[in-house]
Amino acid sequence: MRRFGLIGRKLGHSFSAKYFAEKFEREGLSADCSYLLYELPEIERVEEFIASTPSLVGFNVTIPYKQQIIPFLDDLSDEARAIGAVNCVKIAPDGHRVGYNTDVVGIRSSLDKLIGDAKIESALILGTGGASQAVQYALQERAIPFRMVSRDRSKGDVTYEELSHDMIASSRLIVNASPVGMYPMVEQAPDIDYSALTDKHFLFDLVYNPEITRFMALGAERGAQVLSGLDMLYAQAEAAWAIWNE
Ligand SMILES: NC(=O)c1ccc[n+]([C@@H]2O[C@H](COP(=O)([O-])OP(=O)(O)OC[C@H]3O[C@@H](n4cnc5c(N)ncnc54)[C@H](OP(=O)(O)O)[C@@H]3O)[C@@H](O)[C@H]2O)c1
Repeated sequence: MRRFGLIGRKLGHSFSAKYFAEKFEREGLSADCSYLLYELPEIERVEEFIASTPSLVGFNVTIPYKQQIIPFLDDLSDEARAIGAVNCVKIAPDGHRVGYNTDVVGIRSSLDKLIGDAKIESALILGTGGASQAVQYALQERAIPFRMVSRDRSKGDVTYEELSHDMIASSRLIVNASPVGMYPMVEQAPDIDYSALTDKHFLFDLVYNPEITRFMALGAERGAQVLSGLDMLYAQAEAAWAIWNE
């Protein structure tokens, strides 16, 4: 039996557990593979988890451990090192642990789908946490200049109060990398001036539940192209699966 899993502090409604259970069933892998949830009250407990799980091939990492897992690993992929966050760990048969960031794989494919070949001169990233760091990396790869919007002046380039109508109008790509609008707070949307949006804008919401967030709906009302975080979620899970099976 090859074992996979997810570590995080609270894993109540995990997408990954359901996704991999369905995948194993569909692909006839249920007899050979299992995907388990491990809630860890603190990251140090990851050692117990690894030691007590025979045939552990790899695991995903979620909030709040994507950065904290790094000292427990032997090596990092170049991307995980540059982003400073790991959401996928592979364990070799000799126990060697390597950290990867597959969120960025999902962000790349979502950007391909949303903006295609459009030339973007300026973008905004809302939020400065772990997901934002992966978005920053993906935009740098595409040479798209961006500003980071934060509630806190010391963390981003601009605060929501400072974000002018013109800055929004001239930033054709806006990425919500904050949890604002996520279930159950579905009536909320990032605090930006939506009247500055046009049919030239692209809005990418990393939030995947609900499938159409208020941020997306407000953009679509102004003619913007919009995409939710659902594609990213599937793509990062498949990228992890590919790494574990390499
Ligand atoms: N689709 C996917 O596959 C996928 C993958 C990863 C993450 N996500 C989603 O992406 C979002 C961000 O994830 P994360 O891990 O980066 O989360 P996080 O670290 O908890 O939050 C990201 C940032 O959002 C801002 N923020 C937090 N609460 C806010 C509030 N009430 N109002 C305004 N801004 C707020 C903060 O930036 P400032 O303090 O600078 O304002 C924070 O650093 C989550 O909704 C997560 O579910 C989706």
